[in-house]
Amino acid sequence: MTKKLTKAVLPVAGLGTRFLPATKAMAKEMLPVVDKPLIQYAVDEARAAGITQFCMITGRGKIALVEHFDVAYELESTLRQRGKEAEIAALREAQLAPGDIVTVRQQVPLGLGHAIWCARAFIGDDPFAILLPDDLILSDTPCTQQLAEAYYETGGSVVAICEVPPDQTNKYGILKIGADDGRLVEVTGLVEKPKPEDAPSNLSIIGRYVLLPDVIEHLSRMERGAGNEVQLTDSMARMIGNTPFHGLRYKGQRFDCGDKVGFLEAQIAFALRRPEMAAQVRNFLRKYQEPA
Ligand code: G1P
Repeated sequence: MTKKLTKAVLPVAGLGTRFLPATKAMAKEMLPVVDKPLIQYAVDEARAAGITQFCMITGRGKIALVEHFDVAYELESTLRQRGKEAEIAALREAQLAPGDIVTVRQQVPLGLGHAIWCARAFIGDDPFAILLPDDLILSDTPCTQQLAEAYYETGGSVVAICEVPPDQTNKYGILKIGADDGRLVEVTGLVEKPKPEDAPSNLSIIGRYVLLPDVIEHLSRMERGAGNEVQLTDSMARMIGNTPFHGLRYKGQRFDCGDKVGFLEAQIAFALRRPEMAAQVRNFLRKYQEPA
């Protein structure tokens, strides 16, 4: 029987070295796109897919991420005294119900696979989503919801995929594919960050997954892969053949917010979606266009 998807794991232990000095004393997942931190986009996307239980895999210096989803009692009461109802509503949106979020410390930076393994007690025997907050997705139907639908259809693991330029396969997990109906792709193999000449395709995994819990037993072996890290991709590859495994060409636009230019583009794209500022943003953008 296909179990209901209610859990999400958010790996947020990374050091954010690409954004130094901004991330010297602040978690990179707290960087805002317009007015919402990256972590909240991930949580909101998961909530829209019916997910109610969250586990953040954190590390040192990541306390703000925990605080962000807590009740901000003093701030709320100050805002109430000042009659700032809209601001109170914004605070409440960033709140999770008591017991709906737990954190686990990764303690040692051994890779994404190790981070997910750290959530094994939270995952138990249930399917779970993974959202990498660096990957921000603008779409009409939230990407995790699209994955959840594909999970209920196939009863197996599903990863969000997109085509990447052939010379960039060494930045991603890459699929080896079987049957392809244009939307869902049967995955027959997975390779983490292959050189372009070794890549089995140019279809890459982006930071959204729905996985069956059997991935944990494979992760437990702690085998090192690309970059001498415990790679999630390697353990997912071991699941293939035992349970259904598909890639989903999700509908939407992905922004790599782990990259400075990708992050800037996300600011513009998300601002243009906001009715209260879209016209102003469009106006100022004209100033920066190169003359024709
Ligand atoms: C991770 C995964 C990789 C995936 C990518 C998506 O890599 O290991 O398979 O394609 O996320 O963003 P990272 O970006 O952490 O190097």
